Amino acid sequence: MERPAWAPRSIDISVPSVSRIYDYYLGGSHNFEVDREAARKAMEFMPGLPKIMQANRAFMRRAVRFAAEQGISQFLDVGSGIPTFGNVHEVAQAARPDAHVVYVDHDPVAVAHSQAVLAGNERAGVVAADLRKPQEILASPEVQQLIDLNRPVALLLVAILHFVEDEDDPYGAVAELRDALAPGSLLLLTHASYEGMPLPAERAGGAVDVYKDIRNPLIMRSREQIARFFEGYDMVEPGLVPMPHWRPETETWDPDDEDPWAYSGFAGVGRTA
Ligand SMILES: C[S@@+](CC[C@H](N)C(=O)[O-])C[C@H]1O[C@@H](n2cnc3c(N)ncnc32)[C@H](O)[C@@H]1O
Repeated sequence: MERPAWAPRSIDISVPSVSRIYDYYLGGSHNFEVDREAARKAMEFMPGLPKIMQANRAFMRRAVRFAAEQGISQFLDVGSGIPTFGNVHEVAQAARPDAHVVYVDHDPVAVAHSQAVLAGNERAGVVAADLRKPQEILASPEVQQLIDLNRPVALLLVAILHFVEDEDDPYGAVAELRDALAPGSLLLLTHASYEGMPLPAERAGGAVDVYKDIRNPLIMRSREQIARFFEGYDMVEPGLVPMPHWRPETETWDPDDEDPWAYSGFAGVGRTA
């Protein structure tokens, strides 16, 4: 298989990756046939996967605009993924040209492509690091240079925590990051769940098995388990809700017009006191 210029030498392009599968669902071009095959297999069980991803991205953009309106000018996006349409730095810097953005991902393609997209942007950077090691994220030169931890930060954990298994202590990692942030910081979060999905878990579960097969298990958590990630945060209205319900921006928005798959998973924003 020929290796395109954007694929770092270090990656095994014969093994599917979570970030490239996600890129495929969103209509991106940074994926290989192995990724597309895994994505198509997962879609046999959850045909609405691309709709879930689109609802996730749409929430992310609304929540970033909300944070900017609240006066936040620093964004730390952990599990930022392969840049695609409407990225955090574009939305944040369109709302506030002074916004500083740091992307963090452990996937080499996500990091390499973010570097390419951010070239020349002095207020944005990317770190290759793992959410399971929050201190490495905080100590990275990019965070040290671009983020003032004495001022409020919007921390994005968007569609990442469902890739962190309980044995890797995702609640501990989220708490460590919360404790490092100044009062008035925001947590912007989405998480996959069987709750709200238009198919019973027994039928949709085959998609979860695809991620298990590629050694990146997808952990479906209940609304209650997801709410626990907001410990130490006050929830911003309307709380932890299905993604399309979080502050829709159009007045004519009608829940009945939304694709039923968009209601799989939860979104919320919390603020530290
Ligand atoms: C589904 S994508 C979400 C991308 C983006 N946040 C969004 O919502 O559009 C999940 C991303 O999280 C990254 N990821 C998964 N586990 C991670 C970890 N432990 N540390 C850092 N990144 C991780 C993956 O590489 C992937 O790029």
